[in-house]
Amino acid sequence: MAYANISLFSTFVTILLVAISIDSASSAGNFYQNVDVTWGDGRGKIVNNGQLLTLSLDKTSGSGFQSKREYLFGKIDMQLKLVPGNSAGTVTTYYLSSPKVATHDEIDLEFLGNVTGQPYTLHTNIFTQGKGEREQQFRLWFDPTADFHTYSILWNPRSIIISVDGTPIRVFKNMKGVPYPNNQPMRVYGSLWDAQDWATQGGRVKTDWSNAPFIATFKNFNADACVWAKGRSSCRGSTRTAPWMNQQLDATSQRRLRWVQKNYMIYNYCTDYQRFPQGLPKECTVSKF
Ligand SMILES: *[C@@H]1O[C@H](CO)[C@@H](O)[C@H](O)[C@H]1NC(C)=O
Repeated sequence: MAYANISLFSTFVTILLVAISIDSASSAGNFYQNVDVTWGDGRGKIVNNGQLLTLSLDKTSGSGFQSKREYLFGKIDMQLKLVPGNSAGTVTTYYLSSPKVATHDEIDLEFLGNVTGQPYTLHTNIFTQGKGEREQQFRLWFDPTADFHTYSILWNPRSIIISVDGTPIRVFKNMKGVPYPNNQPMRVYGSLWDAQDWATQGGRVKTDWSNAPFIATFKNFNADACVWAKGRSSCRGSTRTAPWMNQQLDATSQRRLRWVQKNYMIYNYCTDYQRFPQGLPKECTVSKF
């Protein structure tokens, strides 16, 4: 009996998974299918049959790519291995952004390099309707240059959850009176560029070009997402019921988020009273995270 139930159940799960992946255009892995290298004059390269994407930076230029598709809600994962050694002055980015400049939405992860042996900073920001100023910065609990790690952006109508290897580091909730990105599609972008004027130790440490070219590597791009086409989001059928669509932080995730925020957060706009003498932004006063 138990066997029959298990196999019935797994058949059901299989059907469900197939249905979800068809409907939500889950597009695993292949960079040739999913992105275009858009700048850098050959410095951005898709290699290994589309399994890896490398970006390089030298004194003349950095490089970057963008997704072929636009999305409106989704769970977007990318694995990154950052510039090793002396990466001071370099910035590796991975972000979502909508096209309209003045009123754009954006969810940013920027990895600020450092001199050998000193930690990277993961700088995050969220723009809604053209307004950002929502920086939070983190240290990582591992060396992000030694291996690939997964950086995820879950974006549904209720929340944006940024995670590192499955551990949430930042949440932005859809709340009354605070603009939320829910009506413009966004594209996925990645880039590697020089920001020696401000990136490392406030701009005091410059890029050492004798280490160039600097190289960051991306793999396993996965967008389990509603695809925007012809002015509409095609987010039909089972995509609407896909687990990420309604996902919120459960008790375990909230504990892990608190752990990260307590031990690894090095800047939080929500506690920067000097910066906001007229009062903190509304989302800071409603939700602790
Ligand atoms: C680089 O290392 C210094 C010294 O540990 C640290 O203060 C700084 O936050 C690190 N990161 C960046 C991006 O400067």
